Formats: sequence, structure tokens, C-alpha cells
Amino acid sequence: MGLSVIILAAGQGTRMRSKLPKVLHRLAGRPLVQHVIDAAKALNADKIHLVYGHGGEQVQAAIADPALNWVLQAEQLGTGHAVQQVVPHLNAADKVLILYGDVPLTNAETLKELVAIQDGKDIALLTVSLPDPSGYGRIVRDAGHRVTGIVEHKDANEAERQIREVNTGILCASGADLVRWLAALRNDNAQGEFYLTDIIKACHDQGGVIHTRHPASAMEVEGVNNRVQLATLERAYQAARAHALMVAGVTLRDPARLDVRGEFQHGLDVEIDVNVILEGRVRVGDNVRVGPNVVLKNVTLGDGVEIKANTVIEDAIIGDGSDIGPFARIRPGTVLAGSVHIGNFVELKKAHLGAGAKAGHLAYIGDATVGERVNISAGVITCNYDGANKHQTVIGDDAFIGTDSQLVAPVQIGEGAYIAAGSTITKDAPAEALTICRAREQRSILGWEKPAKK
Ligand code: UD1
Ligand code: CA
Repeated sequence: MGLSVIILAAGQGTRMRSKLPKVLHRLAGRPLVQHVIDAAKALNADKIHLVYGHGGEQVQAAIADPALNWVLQAEQLGTGHAVQQVVPHLNAADKVLILYGDVPLTNAETLKELVAIQDGKDIALLTVSLPDPSGYGRIVRDAGHRVTGIVEHKDANEAERQIREVNTGILCASGADLVRWLAALRNDNAQGEFYLTDIIKACHDQGGVIHTRHPASAMEVEGVNNRVQLATLERAYQAARAHALMVAGVTLRDPARLDVRGEFQHGLDVEIDVNVILEGRVRVGDNVRVGPNVVLKNVTLGDGVEIKANTVIEDAIIGDGSDIGPFARIRPGTVLAGSVHIGNFVELKKAHLGAGAKAGHLAYIGDATVGERVNISAGVITCNYDGANKHQTVIGDDAFIGTDSQLVAPVQIGEGAYIAAGSTITKDAPAEALTICRAREQRSILGWEKPAKK
């Protein structure tokens, strides 16, 4: 007996007021539907069927995942009709779990339990009690508290509308029963739709039991219909993430001002100041300090690294004990060894800097290999681009690159070389020598007359 997961994602999402299909809107950096796919994968589903309709091509292009079976629902005639489209792909012996592409935050643990309690012709149904249940399908129970059916809000009478326990839509049933119940659905209801929820009554009428479970938090079953709900769920997600980080030993100056959009691994005694964004895969060692307004995307920081305010780092590896910023920009392909110092208004791209190298202010180092203990002074630029191609700059250990020098690549600076301030270096500079290359030596014109205003 295997597990098939069906993800319904054919709805239009009109209230998003967007050209982007609703399920591609991002929560914590990932499309809504990706969260659902990941939950299905966490259950080790044998098959994941994604029912798509509106914006199908866009969704397929954005979620290129070979694990998915794409099933088109050309016309949206209701949730039951959506699941009917998957029938030809279903295995009678499988358990089938139904999820929604716009309900991103369901815990895999909650779903695991639902799958575990589904048995024989029974249905496992996730329900939740809401202070304001309007709009939702209501869970109807008999005197013995057994679920007998679900009545949609628009079809409900006054008494039924008082019921606060509602259908989340998430349920698990056996493939064989589901196929049979789906075949019997009718659309003679207030919305003229084929309701998936009608299988609940069918199950009950045929002697099946509807086992219900509640999620640990209502956030787990909330859907996104508009951008207000998208923001609400994003905040709920981030609050939970921040809470978990603090429990795991990370100091957050303000848990409400950290966004984690991806994977974050950390060592001991990490401190994160306000307005920090961690994206993609971020790993930091022990005693790392991250200052305010910092963005780290796909970054590894060694032990004792300090990232100062307003620094942006992407696709880079920063060695132990290095300090960066404030106001530094570290672009993809940068690798810093230990104890490197990068100060304000320094941009690095595809730059490898050796241990103890320093670039304290106002420099651009791109496509460069920089040795150990090299000092890069203010205003140094590697001229790496000739308008067509990129070229490499190689700087040997212990070299000193004077202020406002341009290193026109490809060029090599020898070990211990000293480049005089204001030099434009177009040829290799030898080791241990002072190389000076200025357009004109300094001269002073005595008695020079200042230009007068006409
Ligand atoms: C549905 C449930 C309701 C439940 C509520 C929870 C039914 C009949 N009603 O109502 O009991 O309380 O969800 O949010 O199931 N979809 C398709 N194809 C369709 C129709 C819908 O893929 O033809 C998808 C939508 O994209 C959406 C989901 O199914 O992700 C739910 O559809 P929606 O129209 O929002 O259902 P509700 O009326 O809210
Ligand atoms: Ca809905």
C-alpha cells in the first residue's frame, strides 16, 4: 500500500490581483505550492499529482520538478471535479492524501498522523474550530458526535451556520473508495459545483467512519486568497522560525525583525541584530555576529565572523575571524580566508583573498586572487573588464596596493610588491619592488593665476 498525494492548484486566485498564478506567490522565499510539495515529500509520498489549470505553463515552468505528475483541470467545476481528473492515475490500493497549493504551512507531522489514522473505507479529515467560521464548509455531527457530512456555507441553513468546526479540505481516503465516491458526485448545490466534501456523507452512509484531527495551530490550515493573507502567513511563519532559533540558542535582538527564507544552520552564541534577511542556504559558525540591515544569501560564515551594518553578501564563503562592513557588498564567487578585514564601500566579486588580507575602504576587487596579508588601500580598482571579456588580477602575499591605484587586468603583482598611490598598472609588477606609474610627475607652477569669473 503506497501513498499518493493530490495537490489542488487549479484555482484562479482572482483576489491576488496578479498576473502571477496564486500558487507561485512566495512565502519565505518559496512559491506557496513548493511548501506543499515539500510537505508531500516529507511524507515519502510515492506519487505527487499536481492539479493545475489557470496559468498552467507558468506554474510548470516555475516548478520544474520531475517528481510531479501534472494533471490538467481545464475547467474549474469544483474541488470534487478537480480530484476526479486524477482518477486515471490513482492506484486502488493506495492511500490518497488531498492537499491544496494555496495552503502552505501544514506541518508534515500533522499530515503523517492523518495518513496513519486512515484505515479501510474510513476517511481521516483535518478540521479546525474557528471563532468566525463564515465561508467555510461546516462539519455536521450526529448526537454521538460522529461526523455525518460537510455542508458548504452557501448551502447551510441557519442552525448549520452556527457550527464553528470547519472543513480544512485536507483529508485522506483509500484510492478505491475515493474513486467510487467521486463517480457519484452531483453538482445540484448552491454553487453548481462538484464538491469534494460530499464524499464525507457518502463514506458515513456506507458505514465508514470519519476520523478527525485538529492541527496544532490554525496557521497550518490557513489558505492564501489575497495579499493580506499572504502577509499574515508570512509573519506567522517568520515568528515561528524566530522562536525556534531562539530556543536553539541564537540571540535575536528583535525576533520580529528577522526573515529567514531558506535553510539556516548555526553554531553556538550567534547574535543577530535587527532587520536581517537570511536567504537560500546560510551556515554560520560559533560566535558569529550579524549587524543590523544585513542580507546574507547562500553564505557560509566561519567562527567568530562579524558582519557589520548594511552589508549584503551573496554566494560567498567567509573564513574564521573575518570582519566585513559596514556598507560592504560581497558578490558571488567570493572566498575569504581567515581574519580578512573588509571595510566600508568595498565591493568584491569572484575574489579570493588570503588570510589577513585587508581592504578597508572604497575598493572594487573582481576576478582576483589576492595573497595573504595584502593591503588594498582606499580607491583601488581591479579593471577586470575590457568591454568584452573579464580578466584576472593576481596579487602575491604581503603586497601593498597604494591608494587610488588601478590594476588593469590581466596583471600580476609580485609578492611583497609595493604599488605607489595613484598608479595605473598595466604590466606585471615585480616582487619586493616599488612600482610607480603616474601619468605625470608632480610639479608646481608658481605664480599661477586663478581663473577669474567673467
Ligand atoms: C473548500 C471546501 C470547504 C472548506 C474550504 C477550506 C469544498 C466544496 N469546499 O471551499 O469545505 O471549508 O475549502 O478552505 O471543497 N480548486 C481546484 N479546482 C476547482 C476548484 C478548486 O483546483 O475546480 C482548488 C483551489 O485552487 C483551491 C482549493 O481547491 O486551492 C479550494 O477551492 P476553493 O474554491 O477555495 O474552495 P472553497 O469554496 O473555499
Ligand atoms: Ca478557499
